[in-house]
Amino acid sequence: MSTFLDAPRPGTPPAGTSRFRPAIHFTARNTWLNDPNGLVFHDGLYHLFFQNNPFGSAWGNMSWGHATSRDLMHWTEHRVAIACDEAEDIFSGSVVVDRGNTSGFGTTAAPALVAIYTSAYKAASEYNGTQAQSLAYSTDAGMTWRRYDENPVLTRDSAHFRDPKVFRYQGEQGACWVMVAVEAQHQKVVLYRSEDLKSWDFLSEFGPANADAGEWECPDLFPLSVDGDPDNTKWVLIVNVNPGAVAGGSGGQYFVGHFDGVRFVPDAGSLAAPTGVSSLDASASDAALRQCQWLDWGRDCYASVSFSEAPDGRRIIIGWMNNWDYANELPTAPWRSSMTLAREVRLTAVNGAARLAQQPVLARPGEGAGLDADAELMSMGLSELNGEALRLPDSVPGAAQVIEILISPGGADRIDLRIFGSSDAAHGAVLSYYTARAELSLDRRHSGDTGFHTKFASVESAPLVLEHGVLKLLIVVDACSVEVFAQDGTVVLTDLVFPEAGHLQTWLSAEGGPATVLKLAVSTLT
Ligand code: FRU
Repeated sequence: MSTFLDAPRPGTPPAGTSRFRPAIHFTARNTWLNDPNGLVFHDGLYHLFFQNNPFGSAWGNMSWGHATSRDLMHWTEHRVAIACDEAEDIFSGSVVVDRGNTSGFGTTAAPALVAIYTSAYKAASEYNGTQAQSLAYSTDAGMTWRRYDENPVLTRDSAHFRDPKVFRYQGEQGACWVMVAVEAQHQKVVLYRSEDLKSWDFLSEFGPANADAGEWECPDLFPLSVDGDPDNTKWVLIVNVNPGAVAGGSGGQYFVGHFDGVRFVPDAGSLAAPTGVSSLDASASDAALRQCQWLDWGRDCYASVSFSEAPDGRRIIIGWMNNWDYANELPTAPWRSSMTLAREVRLTAVNGAARLAQQPVLARPGEGAGLDADAELMSMGLSELNGEALRLPDSVPGAAQVIEILISPGGADRIDLRIFGSSDAAHGAVLSYYTARAELSLDRRHSGDTGFHTKFASVESAPLVLEHGVLKLLIVVDACSVEVFAQDGTVVLTDLVFPEAGHLQTWLSAEGGPATVLKLAVSTLT
């Protein structure tokens, strides 16, 4: 749920809600949002800045909105952090805590938070038509921001140079700041280094590679140990791509490899076979896309980036739960768009290659990780599923539902989970596992409002090979979204769904033979 402080925006319409307002995902009170920006944990608070139109519910007037949370599920929206003006729109970027006061904006005793964002210059600027990197800083723990008066700090005379993600890199020669940004239309990640965040030197570039048909946007680069082994650390490079993602439109791909302080080099196993991902032949290109690594195989997870300074060495990402194909038409008002759940990412070896595994962060304040046992609606162990569908607890309006299923498909051809179902079973979003095809799919064509855009009705699918014959699903359903974390989060699929009011039923069934349910648990979160 989101709560709202102040009434900071002159001219905005009054607060409104609708049945699609999620319970545990961030939405702005009454305005548009897109990419998460400047994710940083500081003084006990998670800060989420975000691409925001302070004056409307469609893209425009891009500024950094601001929200904070203690648990990553419940957010308080604050006044706009960095506002656009006649000279520049404030595009995506990141925030670092400048502990060593390298920038001189704070002190070592009270480090400044420094935002590195893209200035998208407009007519009133001498840089009109270009995109360059700029700084703003906060000396009150992120609540108010001042733009650096010598902006921009890094320009390439380019119209598409944007989305800087900056992190502290500790190398053999000492520590420095590293920036990853993009030349969006050239499908390149560009890397720079700096001592003080103000003066930047070019290091290297990466790309095009794998999914390279669309613009590259919102990169991130961070180290993770493989299966927790401190002697086996690899670097993950996230590259969001729009259009040209595996499910169509926007999506996030990633590469696993090595970073030496200068260059990112992907592992051989992280590169798709060179069959021409950008090929004009749709089926060749689709097959090639399916060999890339995707953060999410659904339609609605874009611009995912990670928090700076997350506690306990955790790496936590948040994405924008939308797709540029239809983003501006979503049937909600006056707010439009939400973020995905926060997801903790790890690297794990899958068939000899390191792959990301994601788990939604569902902790409650004071309870540590895990769900609220009081809210458990259903819990069962071993049972046979044969012919007859099993009814799970209905979804609860105003609450999110968390469904955990461990099932052995055995002789079944298909396992179906119908979410937001109608009593006549004609409607609902259907998550299916196809045994022979080894594929997980989500079909939202017959669930509620799909008519607001021709590209919205869709079926998404991901390759999913069972280990020891068991399908493991963790599904979070929240008002207008379904997020599926399969096989311990190594396969993730996120889709928006706008169900009819009253379509709340959930059914599990096995088709074509018996299946064994090993575990089934349903709980709610508000
Ligand atoms: C990605 C993106 C970024 C840009 C921002 C503008 O969704 O296009 O590349 O900085 O949105 O709002």
